[in-house]
Amino acid sequence: MSLIYRRRAYQPKYTQVISDYLGEIVPFAKRVDKLYLVIPMVFLKTIEWSIYRWYETPIRRFYGIKGNELIYMITKRCNARCPKCGIWKQPESNDQHLHVSHFINCLKRLHYNLYQVTLTGGEPLLYKMDVMRIAEEARKLNVPMVIVSNGTFLDKQFLERYNELGHILVISVDSVEKDKWNEFRGRKDFDIVMPKIILARHVLGDKLRIQSVYAKETASEIPKVIEFCRKHGIKHNIQLHQDFHGDWHDPDGATMVDNDTPCAARKNICIYPNGDVVKCFDHRKIPLAEEPLGNIAKQDIIEILCSKRSTEISKIMKTCNLRCKNMSCNKSQNLLFK
Ligand SMILES: C[S@@+](CC[C@H](N)C(=O)[O-])C[C@H]1O[C@@H](n2cnc3c(N)ncnc32)[C@H](O)[C@@H]1O
Ligand code: SF4
Ligand code: SF4
Repeated sequence: MSLIYRRRAYQPKYTQVISDYLGEIVPFAKRVDKLYLVIPMVFLKTIEWSIYRWYETPIRRFYGIKGNELIYMITKRCNARCPKCGIWKQPESNDQHLHVSHFINCLKRLHYNLYQVTLTGGEPLLYKMDVMRIAEEARKLNVPMVIVSNGTFLDKQFLERYNELGHILVISVDSVEKDKWNEFRGRKDFDIVMPKIILARHVLGDKLRIQSVYAKETASEIPKVIEFCRKHGIKHNIQLHQDFHGDWHDPDGATMVDNDTPCAARKNICIYPNGDVVKCFDHRKIPLAEEPLGNIAKQDIIEILCSKRSTEISKIMKTCNLRCKNMSCNKSQNLLFK
Protein backbone atom coordinates (compact mmCIF):
# COMPACT_ATOMS: atom_id res chain seq x y z
CA MET A 1 0.00 0.00 0.00
CA SER A 2 1.33 3.41 -0.82
CA LEU A 3 0.61 6.29 1.47
CA ILE A 4 0.83 9.66 -0.23
CA TYR A 5 0.47 12.80 1.80
CA ARG A 6 0.19 16.25 0.35
CA ARG A 7 -0.09 19.58 2.03
CA ARG A 8 -3.71 20.58 1.52
CA ALA A 9 -5.34 23.94 0.91
CA TYR A 10 -7.79 23.21 3.71
CA GLN A 11 -6.89 22.43 7.30
CA PRO A 12 -8.29 19.06 8.35
CA LYS A 13 -10.11 18.74 11.65
CA TYR A 14 -7.99 17.80 14.68
CA THR A 15 -10.13 14.71 15.26
CA GLN A 16 -9.37 13.55 11.69
CA VAL A 17 -5.64 14.15 12.23
CA ILE A 18 -5.68 12.19 15.51
CA SER A 19 -7.64 9.39 13.90
CA ASP A 20 -5.22 9.33 10.91
CA TYR A 21 -2.25 9.23 13.29
CA LEU A 22 -3.58 6.49 15.54
CA GLY A 23 -4.87 4.50 12.56
CA GLU A 24 -1.34 4.27 11.22
CA ILE A 25 0.79 4.22 14.36
CA VAL A 26 -1.17 1.63 16.38
CA PRO A 27 -0.90 -1.14 13.72
CA PHE A 28 2.76 -0.16 13.21
CA ALA A 29 3.52 -0.47 16.94
CA LYS A 30 1.83 -3.89 17.00
CA ARG A 31 4.21 -5.09 14.29
CA VAL A 32 7.36 -4.25 16.29
CA ASP A 33 8.51 -7.63 17.66
CA LYS A 34 10.83 -6.51 20.47
CA LEU A 35 9.20 -4.68 23.35
CA TYR A 36 12.23 -2.45 24.08
CA LEU A 37 12.13 -1.17 20.48
CA VAL A 38 8.48 -0.06 20.54
CA ILE A 39 9.07 3.45 21.96
CA PRO A 40 12.07 4.41 19.74
CA MET A 41 10.38 2.95 16.64
CA VAL A 42 7.12 4.78 17.35
CA PHE A 43 9.13 7.98 17.90
CA LEU A 44 10.87 7.62 14.52
CA LYS A 45 7.62 6.65 12.82
CA THR A 46 5.95 9.74 14.30
CA ILE A 47 8.65 11.98 12.77
CA GLU A 48 8.21 10.27 9.41
CA TRP A 49 4.42 10.49 9.69
CA SER A 50 4.59 14.21 10.51
CA ILE A 51 6.83 15.00 7.55
CA TYR A 52 4.62 13.18 5.08
CA ARG A 53 1.46 14.44 6.76
CA TRP A 54 2.25 18.11 6.39
CA TYR A 55 4.60 18.56 3.47
CA GLU A 56 4.21 17.80 -0.19
CA THR A 57 6.90 15.48 -1.41
CA PRO A 58 7.70 13.64 -4.62
CA ILE A 59 8.71 10.69 -2.48
CA ARG A 60 6.02 8.17 -1.72
CA ARG A 61 6.09 5.67 1.06
CA PHE A 62 5.62 2.15 -0.17
CA TYR A 63 4.27 -0.90 1.50
CA GLY A 64 4.54 -2.70 -1.82
CA ILE A 65 2.48 -0.67 -4.28
CA LYS A 66 2.38 2.87 -5.72
CA GLY A 67 -1.18 4.29 -6.19
CA ASN A 68 -4.16 2.24 -5.06
CA GLU A 69 -7.59 1.57 -6.54
CA LEU A 70 -10.41 0.85 -4.11
CA ILE A 71 -12.92 -1.50 -5.77
CA TYR A 72 -16.27 -2.05 -4.08
CA MET A 73 -18.53 -4.89 -5.17
CA ILE A 74 -21.46 -3.13 -3.56
CA THR A 75 -23.84 -6.04 -4.17
CA LYS A 76 -24.08 -9.42 -5.86
CA ARG A 77 -27.75 -8.75 -6.60
CA CYS A 78 -28.67 -8.01 -10.19
CA ASN A 79 -31.77 -7.35 -12.26
CA ALA A 80 -30.18 -8.96 -15.34
CA ARG A 81 -29.56 -12.65 -15.98
CA CYS A 82 -26.53 -12.57 -18.28
CA PRO A 83 -25.48 -16.13 -19.22
CA LYS A 84 -21.79 -15.04 -19.15
CA CYS A 85 -22.00 -14.28 -15.44
CA GLY A 86 -22.89 -16.26 -12.33
CA ILE A 87 -22.75 -13.41 -9.81
CA TRP A 88 -26.53 -12.86 -9.87
CA LYS A 89 -27.05 -16.50 -8.81
CA GLN A 90 -25.56 -15.82 -5.36
CA PRO A 91 -27.16 -12.59 -4.08
CA GLU A 92 -26.16 -11.63 -0.53
CA SER A 93 -28.80 -11.81 2.19
CA ASN A 94 -29.94 -8.57 3.84
CA ASP A 95 -27.73 -9.21 6.89
CA GLN A 96 -24.71 -9.80 4.62
CA HIS A 97 -25.11 -6.40 2.95
CA LEU A 98 -22.74 -3.79 4.38
CA HIS A 99 -24.15 -0.46 5.52
CA VAL A 100 -22.82 2.28 3.24
CA SER A 101 -21.38 4.21 6.21
CA HIS A 102 -18.68 1.53 6.66
CA PHE A 103 -17.55 1.95 3.07
CA ILE A 104 -17.56 5.74 3.34
CA ASN A 105 -15.41 5.44 6.45
CA CYS A 106 -13.00 3.23 4.53
CA LEU A 107 -12.89 5.75 1.68
CA LYS A 108 -12.13 8.58 4.13
CA ARG A 109 -9.33 6.57 5.72
CA LEU A 110 -7.71 5.70 2.39
CA HIS A 111 -8.35 8.73 0.23
CA TYR A 112 -4.73 9.91 0.22
CA ASN A 113 -3.74 6.56 -1.25
CA LEU A 114 -6.34 6.33 -3.98
CA TYR A 115 -6.14 7.29 -7.61
CA GLN A 116 -9.63 5.85 -8.12
CA VAL A 117 -12.63 4.28 -6.43
CA THR A 118 -14.59 1.81 -8.59
CA LEU A 119 -18.09 0.49 -7.90
CA THR A 120 -19.12 -2.81 -9.44
CA GLY A 121 -21.44 -5.68 -8.62
CA GLY A 122 -23.94 -7.31 -9.30
CA GLU A 123 -25.69 -4.17 -10.39
CA PRO A 124 -24.46 -1.15 -8.36
CA LEU A 125 -27.40 1.06 -9.35
CA LEU A 126 -29.80 -1.19 -7.45
CA TYR A 127 -28.38 0.91 -4.58
CA LYS A 128 -28.63 4.23 -6.36
CA MET A 129 -28.88 6.35 -3.20
CA ASP A 130 -25.85 4.70 -1.61
CA VAL A 131 -23.94 5.01 -4.89
CA MET A 132 -24.72 8.73 -5.00
CA ARG A 133 -23.59 9.17 -1.37
CA ILE A 134 -20.28 7.53 -2.26
CA ALA A 135 -19.98 9.67 -5.42
CA GLU A 136 -20.54 12.87 -3.39
CA GLU A 137 -18.02 11.82 -0.74
CA ALA A 138 -15.45 10.83 -3.39
CA ARG A 139 -15.79 14.29 -4.95
CA LYS A 140 -15.26 15.98 -1.55
CA LEU A 141 -12.17 13.84 -1.00
CA ASN A 142 -10.93 14.50 -4.55
CA VAL A 143 -10.96 10.83 -5.54
CA PRO A 144 -12.13 10.10 -9.13
CA MET A 145 -14.88 7.48 -9.25
CA VAL A 146 -15.93 4.88 -11.83
CA ILE A 147 -19.21 2.93 -11.83
CA VAL A 148 -19.52 -0.24 -13.93
CA SER A 149 -23.22 -0.76 -14.67
CA ASN A 150 -25.63 -2.55 -16.97
CA GLY A 151 -27.36 0.82 -17.46
CA THR A 152 -30.93 -0.27 -16.65
CA PHE A 153 -31.54 2.11 -13.75
CA LEU A 154 -29.99 5.27 -15.18
CA ASP A 155 -32.15 8.37 -15.23
CA LYS A 156 -31.66 12.02 -16.13
CA GLN A 157 -31.51 13.31 -12.56
CA PHE A 158 -28.84 10.78 -11.56
CA LEU A 159 -26.80 11.41 -14.70
CA GLU A 160 -26.91 15.19 -14.33
CA ARG A 161 -25.67 15.12 -10.73
CA TYR A 162 -23.08 12.46 -11.56
CA ASN A 163 -21.86 14.64 -14.41
CA GLU A 164 -21.50 17.64 -12.06
CA LEU A 165 -19.37 15.48 -9.79
CA GLY A 166 -17.06 14.73 -12.75
CA HIS A 167 -16.99 10.94 -12.35
CA ILE A 168 -16.87 8.22 -15.03
CA LEU A 169 -19.59 5.73 -15.97
CA VAL A 170 -18.86 2.44 -17.74
CA ILE A 171 -21.82 0.63 -19.32
CA SER A 172 -21.41 -3.01 -20.34
CA VAL A 173 -22.54 -3.74 -23.89
CA ASP A 174 -21.82 -7.01 -25.69
CA SER A 175 -24.04 -6.47 -28.74
CA VAL A 176 -25.85 -3.55 -30.35
CA GLU A 177 -28.34 -5.84 -32.13
CA LYS A 178 -31.65 -6.24 -30.32
CA ASP A 179 -32.00 -10.04 -30.47
CA LYS A 180 -28.40 -10.73 -29.45
CA TRP A 181 -28.57 -8.04 -26.75
CA ASN A 182 -31.69 -9.62 -25.22
CA GLU A 183 -30.11 -13.07 -25.37
CA PHE A 184 -26.87 -11.80 -23.77
CA ARG A 185 -28.72 -10.04 -20.94
CA GLY A 186 -31.24 -12.81 -20.25
CA ARG A 187 -33.75 -9.94 -20.19
CA LYS A 188 -35.61 -8.23 -23.02
CA ASP A 189 -34.33 -4.79 -22.09
CA PHE A 190 -32.70 -3.53 -25.32
CA ASP A 191 -35.48 -0.97 -25.89
CA ILE A 192 -35.14 0.27 -22.29
CA VAL A 193 -31.36 0.52 -22.01
CA MET A 194 -30.33 1.69 -25.49
CA PRO A 195 -32.09 5.09 -25.15
CA LYS A 196 -30.43 5.44 -21.72
CA ILE A 197 -27.00 4.94 -23.29
CA ILE A 198 -27.74 7.73 -25.76
CA LEU A 199 -28.98 9.94 -22.89
CA ALA A 200 -25.85 9.13 -20.86
CA ARG A 201 -23.67 10.10 -23.83
CA HIS A 202 -25.56 13.37 -24.12
CA VAL A 203 -25.26 14.22 -20.39
CA LEU A 204 -21.81 12.81 -19.57
CA GLY A 205 -20.00 13.42 -22.86
CA ASP A 206 -16.69 11.59 -22.88
CA LYS A 207 -17.13 10.54 -19.25
CA LEU A 208 -19.28 7.70 -20.62
CA ARG A 209 -17.37 4.53 -21.56
CA ILE A 210 -18.47 1.15 -22.94
CA GLN A 211 -16.95 -2.22 -22.05
CA SER A 212 -17.52 -5.53 -23.88
CA VAL A 213 -16.61 -9.08 -22.96
CA TYR A 214 -14.63 -10.88 -25.67
CA ALA A 215 -15.91 -14.47 -25.74
CA LYS A 216 -16.71 -17.06 -28.40
CA GLU A 217 -20.33 -15.88 -28.22
CA THR A 218 -19.45 -12.20 -28.83
CA ALA A 219 -16.58 -12.49 -31.32
CA SER A 220 -18.79 -11.43 -34.25
CA GLU A 221 -20.67 -8.80 -32.20
CA ILE A 222 -17.73 -6.80 -30.87
CA PRO A 223 -16.77 -5.14 -34.18
CA LYS A 224 -20.35 -3.78 -34.34
CA VAL A 225 -20.09 -2.48 -30.77
CA ILE A 226 -16.79 -0.80 -31.65
CA GLU A 227 -18.42 0.80 -34.70
CA PHE A 228 -21.34 2.03 -32.54
CA CYS A 229 -18.84 3.57 -30.08
CA ARG A 230 -16.88 5.20 -32.89
CA LYS A 231 -20.08 6.69 -34.34
CA HIS A 232 -21.12 8.11 -30.97
CA GLY A 233 -17.63 9.16 -29.83
CA ILE A 234 -17.57 6.77 -26.87
CA LYS A 235 -14.31 5.22 -25.61
CA HIS A 236 -14.41 1.42 -25.63
CA ASN A 237 -12.65 -1.35 -23.75
CA ILE A 238 -12.54 -5.11 -24.29
CA GLN A 239 -12.34 -7.49 -21.37
CA LEU A 240 -11.30 -11.07 -22.10
CA HIS A 241 -13.86 -13.68 -21.06
CA GLN A 242 -13.12 -15.19 -17.62
CA ASP A 243 -14.74 -17.91 -15.60
CA PHE A 244 -17.52 -16.07 -13.76
CA HIS A 245 -19.39 -19.37 -13.27
CA GLY A 246 -21.47 -18.55 -16.35
CA ASP A 247 -22.15 -20.43 -19.60
CA TRP A 248 -19.93 -18.60 -22.11
CA HIS A 249 -16.70 -19.86 -23.67
CA ASP A 250 -13.26 -18.47 -24.46
CA PRO A 251 -12.88 -17.14 -27.99
CA ASP A 252 -11.24 -19.48 -30.51
CA GLY A 253 -7.47 -19.18 -30.61
CA ALA A 254 -7.29 -15.83 -28.88
CA THR A 255 -5.73 -15.78 -25.46
CA MET A 256 -4.78 -12.11 -25.01
CA VAL A 257 -2.48 -13.39 -22.27
CA ASP A 258 0.63 -11.29 -22.24
CA ASN A 259 3.26 -13.12 -20.27
CA ASP A 260 5.62 -10.18 -20.04
CA THR A 261 3.35 -7.72 -18.26
CA PRO A 262 3.03 -8.40 -14.54
CA CYS A 263 -0.44 -8.45 -13.00
CA ALA A 264 -1.24 -4.96 -11.74
CA ALA A 265 -3.74 -6.20 -9.14
CA ARG A 266 -1.34 -5.43 -6.27
CA LYS A 267 -2.62 -1.86 -6.56
CA ASN A 268 -6.13 -3.05 -5.66
CA ILE A 269 -8.01 -3.01 -2.41
CA CYS A 270 -11.23 -4.93 -3.05
CA ILE A 271 -14.30 -4.96 -0.83
CA TYR A 272 -17.09 -7.56 -1.01
CA PRO A 273 -20.79 -6.74 -0.35
CA ASN A 274 -20.41 -7.92 3.28
CA GLY A 275 -17.32 -5.74 3.89
CA ASP A 276 -14.70 -8.49 3.50
CA VAL A 277 -11.38 -7.16 2.18
CA VAL A 278 -9.23 -8.92 -0.44
CA LYS A 279 -6.44 -7.77 -2.75
CA CYS A 280 -8.04 -9.11 -5.94
CA PHE A 281 -11.41 -10.77 -6.57
CA ASP A 282 -9.50 -13.86 -7.76
CA HIS A 283 -7.73 -14.14 -4.39
CA ARG A 284 -8.84 -17.78 -3.93
CA LYS A 285 -6.30 -18.78 -6.56
CA ILE A 286 -3.53 -17.72 -4.15
CA PRO A 287 -3.50 -20.20 -1.22
CA LEU A 288 -2.39 -17.60 1.39
CA ALA A 289 -5.12 -15.21 0.19
CA GLU A 290 -7.97 -17.71 0.27
CA GLU A 291 -9.44 -16.19 3.43
CA PRO A 292 -10.29 -12.45 3.35
CA LEU A 293 -7.80 -10.12 5.07
CA GLY A 294 -10.43 -8.65 7.35
CA ASN A 295 -13.78 -6.90 7.32
CA ILE A 296 -14.33 -3.14 7.24
CA ALA A 297 -17.44 -3.40 9.41
CA LYS A 298 -15.26 -4.73 12.23
CA GLN A 299 -11.75 -3.35 11.69
CA ASP A 300 -10.00 -0.26 10.45
CA ILE A 301 -8.92 -0.65 6.80
CA ILE A 302 -5.37 0.56 7.40
CA GLU A 303 -4.96 -1.96 10.20
CA ILE A 304 -6.23 -4.67 7.80
CA LEU A 305 -3.83 -3.63 5.03
CA CYS A 306 -0.83 -3.37 7.35
CA SER A 307 -1.20 -6.94 8.59
CA LYS A 308 1.69 -9.31 7.97
CA ARG A 309 -0.46 -11.57 5.77
CA SER A 310 -1.53 -8.64 3.62
CA THR A 311 2.10 -7.65 3.03
CA GLU A 312 3.03 -11.26 2.23
CA ILE A 313 0.14 -11.59 -0.22
CA SER A 314 1.22 -8.35 -1.95
CA LYS A 315 4.67 -9.87 -2.40
CA ILE A 316 3.24 -13.10 -3.88
CA MET A 317 1.07 -11.05 -6.28
CA LYS A 318 4.22 -9.47 -7.75
CA THR A 319 4.87 -12.68 -9.68
CA CYS A 320 1.32 -14.00 -10.00
CA ASN A 321 0.70 -14.61 -13.69
CA LEU A 322 -2.76 -16.09 -14.17
CA ARG A 323 -5.32 -15.34 -16.83
CA CYS A 324 -7.31 -13.11 -14.47
CA LYS A 325 -4.57 -10.48 -14.78
CA ASN A 326 -6.34 -9.53 -18.03
CA MET A 327 -9.42 -8.27 -16.19
CA SER A 328 -9.77 -4.51 -16.54
CA CYS A 329 -9.58 -4.00 -12.78
CA ASN A 330 -6.25 -5.86 -12.66
CA LYS A 331 -4.61 -3.89 -15.45
CA SER A 332 -2.83 -0.55 -15.50
CA GLN A 333 -5.20 2.29 -16.30
CA ASN A 334 -3.24 3.36 -19.37
CA LEU A 335 -4.05 0.02 -21.06
CA LEU A 336 -7.82 0.61 -20.92
CA PHE A 337 -10.44 2.46 -23.00
CA LYS A 338 -9.09 3.46 -26.38
C1 LIG B 1 -19.81 -8.40 -13.17
S1 LIG B 1 -20.21 -6.92 -13.97
C2 LIG B 1 -20.91 -5.94 -12.69
C3 LIG B 1 -21.37 -4.57 -13.14
C4 LIG B 1 -22.63 -4.52 -13.99
N1 LIG B 1 -23.62 -5.41 -13.55
C5 LIG B 1 -22.29 -4.73 -15.45
O1 LIG B 1 -22.70 -5.75 -16.00
O2 LIG B 1 -21.64 -3.84 -15.99
C6 LIG B 1 -18.62 -6.14 -14.21
C7 LIG B 1 -18.04 -6.35 -15.57
O3 LIG B 1 -17.73 -7.74 -15.71
C8 LIG B 1 -18.08 -8.13 -17.01
N2 LIG B 1 -18.29 -9.58 -17.05
C9 LIG B 1 -19.38 -10.28 -16.77
N3 LIG B 1 -19.18 -11.60 -16.96
C10 LIG B 1 -17.90 -11.73 -17.38
C11 LIG B 1 -17.09 -12.84 -17.75
N4 LIG B 1 -17.54 -14.10 -17.74
N5 LIG B 1 -15.82 -12.60 -18.14
C12 LIG B 1 -15.33 -11.34 -18.16
N6 LIG B 1 -16.04 -10.26 -17.82
C13 LIG B 1 -17.32 -10.45 -17.43
C14 LIG B 1 -19.34 -7.34 -17.29
O4 LIG B 1 -19.62 -7.28 -18.68
C15 LIG B 1 -18.99 -6.00 -16.70
O5 LIG B 1 -18.33 -5.18 -17.65
S1 SF4 C 1 -22.72 -9.09 -15.98
FE1 SF4 C 1 -23.51 -7.44 -14.73
S2 SF4 C 1 -25.59 -7.18 -15.54
FE2 SF4 C 1 -24.96 -9.17 -16.20
S3 SF4 C 1 -25.73 -10.56 -14.63
FE3 SF4 C 1 -23.58 -10.08 -14.15
S4 SF4 C 1 -23.73 -8.44 -12.72
FE4 SF4 C 1 -25.70 -8.55 -13.77
S1 SF4 D 1 -3.10 -12.95 -11.66
FE1 SF4 D 1 -5.18 -13.16 -10.86
S2 SF4 D 1 -4.97 -14.16 -8.82
FE2 SF4 D 1 -2.94 -13.39 -9.46
S3 SF4 D 1 -2.81 -11.39 -8.47
FE3 SF4 D 1 -3.56 -11.06 -10.58
S4 SF4 D 1 -5.79 -11.04 -10.38
FE4 SF4 D 1 -4.98 -11.95 -8.49
